Amino acid sequence: MQIGTLLRSIQFFGIADSARAIRYAILRDRLDRDYQQMASKDPAESQSPGPLKWSREIPHGIELQFEHTSLELVFLARDVLRISWKPGELPIPYAIIGNAWPGDWIQLEQGQGGLVLKGSQLRVEISNDGRLKIHNLEGSLLRIENPPVHTGESWEQTSPLDPQACIFGLGERACGWNLRGGTYQLWNKDPGGSYGLGHDPLYMSIPVYMCMQPQGHYLVFYENPYRGEITIEDATKVQFERGALRSYFFHGSPEHCLDRYTQLTGRPPMPPRWSLGYHQSRWGYKSQDDIREIAESFKKHDLPISAIHLDIDYMDGYRVFTFREDRFGAVLELSQSLQEADIKLVTIIDPGVKVDRGYQFFQDGLQKGMFCTLPNGRPMLSIVWPGWVHFPDFTDPNVRTWWGDCYPQLLDRGVTGIWHDMNEPTAFAPWGDKTFPLITQHSFEGQGGDHLRAHNLYALLMNRAGFEALKKFKPERRPWLLSRAGYAGGQRYAWNWTGDVETSWEALRQTVATMLGVSLSGFAYTGSDVGGFSGAPDPELYLRWFQLGAFTPFFRTHSAMGTPPREPWTFEEEILQATRSLLQMRYRLMPYFYTLAWAAHQKGTPLLRPTFWVDPDDPTLWEIVDQFFLGPDLMLAPVLNSGELEREVYLPSGSWYELWDDSIFAGPGVRTIPTDLTHIPAFVRGGAILPLEISPTELELHLYLPDEGEIRGELYSDEGDGYLEYRLDRISGSRQEKLIQLTRTNEGDYPWPYTNTVLTLHGAKISAVELDGKDWVSEETRIQTPLFDEIVIELA
Ligand code: GLC
Repeated sequence: MQIGTLLRSIQFFGIADSARAIRYAILRDRLDRDYQQMASKDPAESQSPGPLKWSREIPHGIELQFEHTSLELVFLARDVLRISWKPGELPIPYAIIGNAWPGDWIQLEQGQGGLVLKGSQLRVEISNDGRLKIHNLEGSLLRIENPPVHTGESWEQTSPLDPQACIFGLGERACGWNLRGGTYQLWNKDPGGSYGLGHDPLYMSIPVYMCMQPQGHYLVFYENPYRGEITIEDATKVQFERGALRSYFFHGSPEHCLDRYTQLTGRPPMPPRWSLGYHQSRWGYKSQDDIREIAESFKKHDLPISAIHLDIDYMDGYRVFTFREDRFGAVLELSQSLQEADIKLVTIIDPGVKVDRGYQFFQDGLQKGMFCTLPNGRPMLSIVWPGWVHFPDFTDPNVRTWWGDCYPQLLDRGVTGIWHDMNEPTAFAPWGDKTFPLITQHSFEGQGGDHLRAHNLYALLMNRAGFEALKKFKPERRPWLLSRAGYAGGQRYAWNWTGDVETSWEALRQTVATMLGVSLSGFAYTGSDVGGFSGAPDPELYLRWFQLGAFTPFFRTHSAMGTPPREPWTFEEEILQATRSLLQMRYRLMPYFYTLAWAAHQKGTPLLRPTFWVDPDDPTLWEIVDQFFLGPDLMLAPVLNSGELEREVYLPSGSWYELWDDSIFAGPGVRTIPTDLTHIPAFVRGGAILPLEISPTELELHLYLPDEGEIRGELYSDEGDGYLEYRLDRISGSRQEKLIQLTRTNEGDYPWPYTNTVLTLHGAKISAVELDGKDWVSEETRIQTPLFDEIVIELA
């Protein structure tokens, strides 16, 4: 152990808990040694599939028996292929939901040196030694999978890459953008303290990646939750320590691939509208009075806010589902007064349950056998914030219910949202892997399994327990959960934030790539601690981070214990004013965010999208990562370097309007855009209709005129929570020279929520307007409109 680590640990946890952490690490090492010895009793031989013995057609696919291993190939749909190599157990399908796949017709042919499986969109050549070549019907070779190697219980598979191919995803990574040229661990991990560029792995590993390449894009998901590793160089080389080697291949544009992938692993539910607002947090708010003061200061400084988070200090000795009565005894009154100001209370919950004979929840869990155990049947003892803890075994359905049944203890005190932390799962240990001994036993719905199998699923299942509890106890409300760790399918239950990122410019730059990678891994909602978790951002860095946060799905300032306060008013007036106008812009954009949430819910489309989204086939866009899209119409170019007062921005083809001052630029091409401290370059696509809310009853529809051609916009509205009616208004039309014609259609029965709607034109002045067949008055660029079906605008 390094002396520095020890000192840091004593500073944070005190001498007694540091000593316990050392004891824990020694115990874990001993158990892990036993585990390794058990696993390596018979040195195993590596086996390739060997020659093909027989094959047979099965519904929508084929089954093949090679000498050593077997393979099943099934077309779930014409563009989705499931590839399963055995031996090894197939996973309990925690990650996936969609089994109702249409399949595809197939045709089997004898090819040169193997078989050919043809579907309506893909053709797979299966060589007699187990190599797969996946082609599209135009004949382009999309992917090669070399025969996988099975050693003992592990699998290894390589897949050569096109020299131009770029790889993105793998969940949460802090390793640049294009993942080629690196090795990544598939093992959820708290980096400890804070992390910066190059730290791997982080809290949420997902074995899913997107490949952008000239001959056609694809996404591959390995449904194997075991510990693994993936190296991405001239080829991808993936290894899993156990389980069957099952993967899914999805073909098409990134948007299509994510639609299909989330058809398989689930889409995020519609979030409550408040969650898209601003969240304020800090590890170090010590009492209900602190929180009240924070809320009052937001009001006093005219800063809109939607939620305040309580970190671990609200608990009584870090006992989950308790409140420290001396400081948070009046939390119900607090939450009620926050509620009056439209601010929700969110509390953190960690999975570790304090070992304490006088603590009812612990006693109950112990009696009912709710905790993960060691092979001798005794609960596994570990250490986190409360000192010694036992961890619930979320792979057991009874534990999920038992755990969830405690959520009313938070909900009944007025808590609305829940923040799950430390669920990689993390245990404090001054050296080695900060998690459970691998020998730890889990139920797996009664099947049994060890921690190597359960680790990456732990957060997914904790989040499932929390999500199901929120639905059960507040059925009229939409659950809102935030989680640090996760796995494939976790988007069904919780939002992601990027954890304890360090406070630095480099970390700010990396954060854009990290969030885009998370987005391409199926999590539509992500965000980072504004200002970085660990340090004291100077005003410039804080503001630049705030500017990024204002355009990310989850927008929260949060920081570590002991860092200086960083609420907007703790900075000088210029910064305070800038944060105010950003917050105002965020709230004006709410209908846009909310409409994007609907798209994510319908099709899994992430809110944040890499630049290549506009034209996936243009390779010059694949590696751009210092700018990104929020939805289809807003492109952000955050300032990511200190002192930068201009930056280069790639503008895709078409016309682009600066959001702040309406200057118009024509793409495609790179432009140098001036900026100042209080703004980041932000562009609206010509042809877009951007809905901006002035108040709950006043809406502005901003029409950014294209030079020529298509105009479209969408607006989703509902109550903001619950499950009642909704409406989706679509406005579409076109510009032909000086004439604009727009038609509105809608679905859903929710009444139009706005009493006052203004259509504002950008890029030209109005000469005449006809609304639903009648002449209509207008100003130079503004038209007060009732809900129209058709509008014709003649430009001056
Ligand atoms: C972890 C979380 C951080 C939180 C802290 C204390 O480090 O990532 O957000 O403030 O624990 O609960």
